[in-house]
Amino acid sequence: MRKIYFAIVLAILAAGCSKHVTVKEISVVPEPVFVLQKEGSFTLKDNPRISLAGIGQNSPTARYVMSSLRHARMHPSMVSSGKNSDIDMEILDTANPELGDEGYLLEVRSTGIRMSANTETGLFYAYQTLVQLLPPDINRVRYRAITLPECTILDYPRFEWRGAHLDVCRHFFPPKFIKKYLDVMASYKLNRFHWHLTDDHGWRLPSEKYPKLNTIGSWRVDRDDQPWGEAEPPREGERATYGGYYSKEDIAEIVQYAAERGIEVIPEIEMPGHVSALLASYPQMACDYRGGKNEVNPYRVEIGPYWPPRAILCLGKDSTLVIMNDLLDEVMDLFPSARYIHLGGDEAFKDNWEQCLKCQRRIRVERLRDEDELQSWFMSNMAARVSARGKQAIGWDEISESGVAWSGTPDTADVVPAPADSESNMIVMAWRGQQLGIAAAAAGHSVIMCPTDYCYLDYYQANPLFQPKSIGGMITLEKAYSFEPAPEGTDSIAESNILGGQCNLWTEYINTPSHAEYMLLPRMLAISESLWSPREKKDWNRFRRTLEDQKERLASRGYNYCEGSFEPHFIARRIDDQTMNISISTEVPNTYIFYTTDSSTPTRKSSIYVGPLNLERGTHIKILPVYKDLERDTVYEYVIK
Ligand code: ACM
Ligand code: ZN
Repeated sequence: MRKIYFAIVLAILAAGCSKHVTVKEISVVPEPVFVLQKEGSFTLKDNPRISLAGIGQNSPTARYVMSSLRHARMHPSMVSSGKNSDIDMEILDTANPELGDEGYLLEVRSTGIRMSANTETGLFYAYQTLVQLLPPDINRVRYRAITLPECTILDYPRFEWRGAHLDVCRHFFPPKFIKKYLDVMASYKLNRFHWHLTDDHGWRLPSEKYPKLNTIGSWRVDRDDQPWGEAEPPREGERATYGGYYSKEDIAEIVQYAAERGIEVIPEIEMPGHVSALLASYPQMACDYRGGKNEVNPYRVEIGPYWPPRAILCLGKDSTLVIMNDLLDEVMDLFPSARYIHLGGDEAFKDNWEQCLKCQRRIRVERLRDEDELQSWFMSNMAARVSARGKQAIGWDEISESGVAWSGTPDTADVVPAPADSESNMIVMAWRGQQLGIAAAAAGHSVIMCPTDYCYLDYYQANPLFQPKSIGGMITLEKAYSFEPAPEGTDSIAESNILGGQCNLWTEYINTPSHAEYMLLPRMLAISESLWSPREKKDWNRFRRTLEDQKERLASRGYNYCEGSFEPHFIARRIDDQTMNISISTEVPNTYIFYTTDSSTPTRKSSIYVGPLNLERGTHIKILPVYKDLERDTVYEYVIK
């Protein structure tokens, strides 16, 4: 009886929650190519009828749409095409060249919603846009009916490569979180998940042929109770208990989950540096020196700061190349559908090679100029192996230092010498600076832009006094939004070689999913708009206003995010020799700005800024920004000049 009573109360509560809402404004991130809002409207009821043309009911996008509507506590049903439907999804019989492979047309008419595209991915993106027309709390509140404005949205991406990277080596993140990461990427139309799977701090791929990679290389001594930068070295005999690796099944499931959301997974296996976890497992792959024995650095899966990262593969030993070829084959077997394999190549400290007789012999035998060319020779061999499987190799921009690895006709023997005259074709991932990427693109290489000063989302995003400890740097939301993969002035050949860009999330200081989300969001949205929207459609003021709605969407889906930076921004106009007219804002709309000009410390009782101020030069202004009770103690001081 009590159960029945409880059920009745629940039913009444649920009915009480259901309501009718009218959406007035269209705001979508990333901003579409073309949006036309009209006078009329269409009301979507909670039992929408969906019709499909050109894709089956069991296609991933159809299943995704049904499941997403059900998640919003609607009761969708499929009806056959041509019948009266509320949402009509159609692959165009005759392709519309303007839409390309990922574009779509979304029309809300008085009679229903129509989504059309050349491809299933296009339809998937049309649906992502439709979701953003629905109320932000659609996941939490049950709506009986949603009235949408009539509109036409035509949309397609500016760049083909719209990526997000995640380092799962410094800290390990479970498959469940990887899926949550993919979900938010898909919402904002990102399509490349760069999965950084091997590094000094852990090996996260399963290996059948080299099992020590999982028994040794995937585990490190746990120092998560200490700040990363201050981690104590392991004590004698201390057990390695932190870490893990993904199973073959995890990987297959994640790749499929990503594909159903229009996302390709790019596995990264680091070489020839960042290999402590590999050398801890198989120390015979390191250089022998000082009398044939490596006495200087017994390798271990690293904990905490590890700089400079001296662990490097010995390229003088054929056996190293044999193992690397095997590992590369294993990666390609684990990711059979991957078009791209990332081979790392960054921050290879070559001191060991200088001292290693075998590496020096390799340099002589292969007629290489120096250690840089040795790296290039090695990357070339690896790229050739990738290419032999019909895949494309990518490397961090260091690979361009001595002519970039090539991948010509591969010799499938285990040790592949690289002919010197081959064309370079590794894709360059430019992280150390945009100019470097532009130079590589101008020299004919395909380039992915992820310069540290815009795209490294492990950097601080607001006043460090009030933020979780980070690796350093400062990329506010506004800075991330100013990311331009092909800056004005880039010549047209270079521009045509820029495939796009991505944000990178290194996790030295990030050890929980919630913290990872906090660093990623909302800056990932800024990067997404830089990669998807036409250059001329970007508008910081529109974007920052839109973000308030996006934050609500993220919160309602259970994502953690940062509110943003409250550092005051000034626009100063000269009135006369003595006086300036000052406008003040922060990147977060609706921030209250309290201020004083008499040197006293501002409080919430001080003057509140409501519009531009005329201030004498030399005035001391102190500002206290307040937003939802955050940053209540931060006072910023300036002198008007
Ligand atoms: C990198 O950040 N070392 C690619
Ligand atoms: Zn060596």
